[in-house]
Amino acid sequence: MKTEGGSDTAKQHAGERAADAVEDGTVVGLGTGSTAAYAIEAIGQAVADGLDVRAIPTSFQSRQLALEYDIPLTTLDAVDGVDLAIDGADQVVDDPESAAHGALIKGGGGAHAREKLVDAAADRFLVVADPSKLTTDLDRSVPLEVLPDAHTVVTERVRALDGEPTLRDAEHKDGPVVTDNGNLLLDCEFGTIADPDALATTLASIPGVVEHGLFVGLADVTYIGTADGVDVRTY
Ligand code: A5P
Repeated sequence: MKTEGGSDTAKQHAGERAADAVEDGTVVGLGTGSTAAYAIEAIGQAVADGLDVRAIPTSFQSRQLALEYDIPLTTLDAVDGVDLAIDGADQVVDDPESAAHGALIKGGGGAHAREKLVDAAADRFLVVADPSKLTTDLDRSVPLEVLPDAHTVVTERVRALDGEPTLRDAEHKDGPVVTDNGNLLLDCEFGTIADPDALATTLASIPGVVEHGLFVGLADVTYIGTADGVDVRTY
């Protein structure tokens, strides 16, 4: 489920700061969501000013934005590597004392499978967020993208882990949300997640789960936009 709150100004500051890190001649992953959209817009402006980049979108939405801003597109299988990925998050652990510092929940927009593919392939993964995303412990529902045939068996497996899964319903269509990859989404409540790394490993082992929304040990930097600037966390 999408998060609510967070000012557009804060999101814009975070997105623009991350876009500043995109260097000439590089391959950049374009994340999904309202905060990453500001980064894509800023990259588009830089491209109009002569920046040479090739971009790999993580969703239909980010591809459409890249097309709108005339950002040259490529694909993972057409490049030797990805220099940088810029992506939003639904929750970010912000506690230097925690082993989970910098762990994320993503997938509020249902794009986390391709996001993780691109973000994990990048040499550097920059997270863009506003302060409403920060938390000491992850406690939002974890989205699971599942094969359509798998949703009932994965539901049972999640319940066996003391999770409470809900099939994500579409708002402007009868029935469930269907992802960009043709799959379904289960939003799974686990309460406070004491060990995100262990839960990530467990969820990844369930047959029929295409990808889960826990991003552990992937982020290199988080840019937290504020009303008048950007706070930076490095991991
Ligand atoms: C997409 O599925 C998500 O992972 C988004 O990156 C996440 O929901 C952040 O989006 P906002 O920047 O719109 O909050």
